[in-house]
Amino acid sequence: MAQRSLKVLRREKLLCEYTGSSSVREKNFPKLSEVELMRHYYRLAQQNYSWEDGLYPLGSCTMKYNPVLGDQLAQNEIFAKLSPNLPEELSQGALALIYETEEMLARLLDMPKVTLFPAAGAHGELSGVLMIAKYFADKKEKRSVILIPDSAHGTNPASAAMAGFEVVKVGSRKDGLTDMEELGRLVGPHVAAFMLTNPNTLGIFEEQILEIKALLEKSGALLYIDGANFNALMGKVSMGAMGADLVQLNLHKSFSTPHGGGGPGQGALAVSERLLSYLPAPQIGCQEEKGHRRYYYYEPPNTIGRIKAYYGHFANILRAWAYMKSYGNRIHEVAEHAVLNANYLRKRLTNLFQLASPKPTMHEVVFDDKKLREKNTTTMQLAKALLDAGFYAPTVYFPLNVSGAIMIEPTETETKEELDAFSEAIEDFLKEEGQVSHPQYTFVKEVDEAKAARNPILSWIDASTCQQSENP
Ligand SMILES: Cc1ncc(COP(=O)(O)O)c(C=O)c1O
Repeated sequence: MAQRSLKVLRREKLLCEYTGSSSVREKNFPKLSEVELMRHYYRLAQQNYSWEDGLYPLGSCTMKYNPVLGDQLAQNEIFAKLSPNLPEELSQGALALIYETEEMLARLLDMPKVTLFPAAGAHGELSGVLMIAKYFADKKEKRSVILIPDSAHGTNPASAAMAGFEVVKVGSRKDGLTDMEELGRLVGPHVAAFMLTNPNTLGIFEEQILEIKALLEKSGALLYIDGANFNALMGKVSMGAMGADLVQLNLHKSFSTPHGGGGPGQGALAVSERLLSYLPAPQIGCQEEKGHRRYYYYEPPNTIGRIKAYYGHFANILRAWAYMKSYGNRIHEVAEHAVLNANYLRKRLTNLFQLASPKPTMHEVVFDDKKLREKNTTTMQLAKALLDAGFYAPTVYFPLNVSGAIMIEPTETETKEELDAFSEAIEDFLKEEGQVSHPQYTFVKEVDEAKAARNPILSWIDASTCQQSENP
């Protein structure tokens, strides 16, 4: 009781600090009318850029439209009030939904098992490399190196290093594919795995995948595929047939769950037979009992253990379930439309920019800045001009192995009209004489591009003392 009133007092103290009053009741907090409050939040919302405004062509991070159906389901009272602390018997519906989503993903990947335990893509990677470490430790094989091509996503080397591996870079050929000769030289009995992003960060398919697998198999190393870009492949390829031992997916990239600022993501990790017993604990199993299914938690025998407090992010799993169920056996159309849209932009823009790779474009197209430099302008200027034209900017200056990279990912939901309008905005920018130094029509106009990263100022209010603090 005493503790509870202390909490109330603290909250009151905090409110006083905000309102500048000595007592909340005295000043009758809050002092704004509904209409003022509504306008405040509406104006804030208008300062944002979202899917409802227009094309969001960020490559690599894939900002994909989140269907209203998924959001409605996630907000459903029954689901929203479910606690992950409920015992198995009282959460059979939720466990069934997670299990079914895992099964659907495993079928799509053509892998024996998927777990939705990981929180996001990089968390799936970390779980995967921890499994690799334990697998070889149990076999008493000293394999301390993970090979990673320079076309991999940046989180791959970070995850491998966090799990205690030495990361060795494998170069790419001129066309952006893995350099097989270099890989052949680097593979050996000290190598635990090769971590390949496929499609890679140039938006192209690693077509030598079977040769890569054969090479690894000879030396006993595992093949890890970063499948975050699976929106280019779903319903079209078999990760099992490619020989993958582990594949992670990002449901917030490929399966329409909100991304980044929209809330937590959702990772998925698929494994081959030989790694099944190393999966994180618990996993969800299913048993047929007198014609009906019962779901339960179990611990795989060689598990790496618990990787976070609760299994997955349930609301996002629900959204991915709805997304897959809505498409049904037409899910391959996601990949077809995503690839078609990216190739449409490739075709429309190749006169204006130079392609980073001549290989076929998958879900995103990457250009370098050679032609921009000839016109005395930069990738950053182009990005700012696109903001002014009412679009979000593409990913810029990534991947790092492409000079002034412009990486555009339209995704599967865009119309030809929107892609044409975007291309015309780029054409207009290139026709203009003299470039603006910053956008004219956005809410925030001129930002110091380096200061936020070099000199971050974190501030917070300590609820117990009502004191504002800032890092130095
Ligand atoms: C290819 C690839 N791998 C891994 C990740 C990391 O995923 P997350 O940001 O969910 O940790 C991303 C992020 O967009 C990615 O594009």
